[in-house]
Amino acid sequence: MKEITINVIDEQGEAHKLKTPIEMGLNLMDVLRSHDLVEGACGGMALCATCHCYIESSHKLSDQKDDELAMLDQLFSIDENKSRLACQIPITELIDNITVKIAPVD
Ligand code: FES
Repeated sequence: MKEITINVIDEQGEAHKLKTPIEMGLNLMDVLRSHDLVEGACGGMALCATCHCYIESSHKLSDQKDDELAMLDQLFSIDENKSRLACQIPITELIDNITVKIAPVD
């Protein structure tokens, strides 16, 4: 099974290197949540922002949909250039070796 690597900087500044398979239809929040790095309270509906993270690497990600943009827009901790909801990022080969930083809870 093909795996990708996800580099994570948690809220305490600690680095984690995660491996995850790409064939299971997961999103980035699913993977972060399975390692207790985010809460993912709404289950991936773009409704809670508990999976808010900053993309620190230069990966080209899919465009944001309106519901993600609307959610991010409500956050004090938004970074216009880096903020994403992890639940809206599918696990594919395109994000292999991505680096994400968990955003502070608003
Ligand atoms: S899990 Fe709720 S917005 Fe991503």
